[in-house]
Parts: sequence; C-alpha cells; structure tokens
Amino acid sequence: MKPLIALMLLAGAAIAHDISSQITWSREISRLAARHCVSCHRRGGSAFPLETFEQARSRAKDIATAVLERRMPPFGAVKGFGDLRDDRSLTQEQIEMVVLWVQGGAPQGDPALVPKTPPKIAAFAEPKTGAEWTGAELTADRTFVAIRPKTIGSDSVRIVAQRPDGTVEPLIWLYRYDPKFPRTYYFRKPLKLPAGTKIIASEPGATVALLEPAR
Ligand code: HEC
Repeated sequence: MKPLIALMLLAGAAIAHDISSQITWSREISRLAARHCVSCHRRGGSAFPLETFEQARSRAKDIATAVLERRMPPFGAVKGFGDLRDDRSLTQEQIEMVVLWVQGGAPQGDPALVPKTPPKIAAFAEPKTGAEWTGAELTADRTFVAIRPKTIGSDSVRIVAQRPDGTVEPLIWLYRYDPKFPRTYYFRKPLKLPAGTKIIASEPGATVALLEPAR
C-alpha cells in the first residue's frame, strides 16, 4: 500500500468514529458517482461503467486510490490557481466519503434510496472560441476566454501572465496533467491583457495556446 493511502485510511478511521451512520452506495456514493464519474464511466462512455452498485463494488479499492491521488475525475489543474470554470474535481470531504465507504467494506445500503432518475447535471455550454494565440509576449491588447495546453513536458506546470506594470495574473497550474485527457480550460470571465504582457511558464519549453472569443 502506498504511504499516502495508508495515511488517509488512518485519518479515515479517526473520522469514522465521529459519524454515526455508515456511508452506503445507495445513499451517498451513487449520487456522487452520478455527478462526478458517470459522464465518462457509463456504458458506451470513455471508461468502464460505474453506474450500478455491482460495477462500483468490484472496483472499490481502485476507486479509493484514484480519488485519493486525485487522478479521478481527471481535471489536471489545481483548484484556485487561475479562475477556471467547469471544475468537477472532488472536495476533500467527498474524497473522505469515498474512502470511508471503501474502508467500511463498500456496503450497498438500501437500494430503494438510489435516485430513480439520475441527477441532471447542468451541461456546461462551452463558449465558442476564436483564434488561437501562442507566444511569449503580446504585441497588442487582447482578450482571451480559454487556455489549452500544447507542449507540456512535465506533469506540473504553472502558467502566469505578467503585465507590463509587473502585476502577475495566475492562468493555470497544470498538475498531474495527463495528455491522454487533453482539454481546453475555460476562464470564468474573459481575461483582458494589455500589450506587453508576457506569458511565463514555470517549466522551460512548456507552451499553451490562449483562445480569443469567437467573433
Ligand atoms: C472525463 C472523464 C472521466 C471522469 C469524469 C472520471 N473518469 Fe475515471 N477514468 C476515465 C478514463 C478514460 C479512464 C481510463 C484511463 C486509462 O485508460 O488509463 C479512467 C479510469 C479510472 C479508474 C481505473 C484506473 C485508475 O486510474 O485507477 C478508476 C478507478 C476510475 N477511473 C474512477 C473514477 C471515479 C471514481 C470517478 C468519479 C469520482 C471518475 N473515474 C471520473 C475517465 C473519467
């Protein structure tokens, strides 16, 4: 067992004493999976299904490991560095809930508690994007709506924009970014940057594209 997981399981044990009711698939985990996993983990999706109790139970240990290591759901960026939309990654409480469930033997609970209709996940309408800009320094004022990793040699790279007045705007901290799940990260609000702004990566050679709004 990897040390991190052993540690979390211990921490989980300490928490377990404080919660009176057991975490079950039917009550908690099925809802979490529907919101955070099933968009990919379903029949006909990009990964093995996690739609039923049996499917999830047979993978319970792998699920605990994947969420603890924050490999799943894949987002590939650190929360709070840059102002990004559509972050479906789990909170610390949700991760603990999954670990407690697995640690408690991945119980099913009362099947009647499973929601009959899966929760509606508000579809995230990806804004239309226009031209792609890759470079090191802006020669004119520009507005960008999204950022897309291009050449990322390391799995942890911070990208910032440094304005000519010296102020620094964090854009994204790619962390455990897996090029197997390439994606475009949309900013919560369009980002205006003046001419002379430098785009700086913490790793030499790392490049990103910045996307302008569609015209
Ligand atoms: C954006 C799509 C997507 C989402 C959302 C997602 N997964 Fe995955 N998951 C994948 C893909 C694709 C693979 C196969 C990865 C591979 O082939 O290496 C995978 C693999 C896994 C694996 C097995 C391999 C591993 O890394 O351990 C587990 C366990 C897993 N996912 C659990 C989850 C759980 C639990 C959630 C929700 C909390 C989740 N995933 C959300 C796409 C997703």
